[in-house]
Amino acid sequence: MSLILQTPRLYLRRFTTDDAHLLLQLNSDPEVLKYLHEPALQDEAHATEILKNIILPQYEKNLGRWATYITNSEEFIGWCGLKYHMDTGEIDLGYRFMKKHWGKGYATEAAQHTLNYGLQELLLKEITACAHVENLASLKVLEKIGMRYVSESIIDDCPVKTYIATP
Ligand SMILES: CC(C)(COP(=O)(O)OP(=O)(O)OC[C@H]1O[C@@H](n2cnc3c(N)ncnc32)[C@H](O)[C@@H]1OP(=O)(O)O)[C@@H](O)C(=O)NCCC(=O)NCCS
Repeated sequence: MSLILQTPRLYLRRFTTDDAHLLLQLNSDPEVLKYLHEPALQDEAHATEILKNIILPQYEKNLGRWATYITNSEEFIGWCGLKYHMDTGEIDLGYRFMKKHWGKGYATEAAQHTLNYGLQELLLKEITACAHVENLASLKVLEKIGMRYVSESIIDDCPVKTYIATP
């Protein structure tokens, strides 16, 4: 297992091509995708494609979305991580968890440690994050981990708020 970081209750590891079933579980729930600009995954073949083409290539830069587990129960709960955007050069913090694990502070915990890891271990100069203006849970997470609100704009036809963190 390629472990990236540990928090008091969670650990984050790299995804592999064997994890299509996990990604399918997460990305097939319309509630999870409610504020995101992407279609629900229909089958494992599609999930494998996302892993190979989008998630795994990010690991070459030591960045990426990392599979997140509850340490005590070894339960997969979703992902959290840092993504490099080739078009803008930005590195953004993101997280996505299965609905049954919402409301327990896991997103805040994973996001806080991921942000610290990016700034203190990877020595990134800047990390951004954005969330749909109506995605109140996600906005709350960004505020709680101390990211600074920058602006509201329209991205891919969606009104989003952008946040930033620097060392
Ligand atoms: C966004 C998401 C990761 C939050 O996960 P979570 O584990 O519930 O987050 P936490 O428990 O750490 O914190 C959520 C905070 O938002 C608050 N919150 C949740 N729903 C809320 C709502 N509708 N209105 C206001 N606050 C809300 C919670 O009370 C909590 O704040 P508190 O600790 O001060 O009480 C989760 O909802 C998710 O995976 N959503 C689908 C994917 C997604 O939208 N990702 C973000 C893309 S920008």
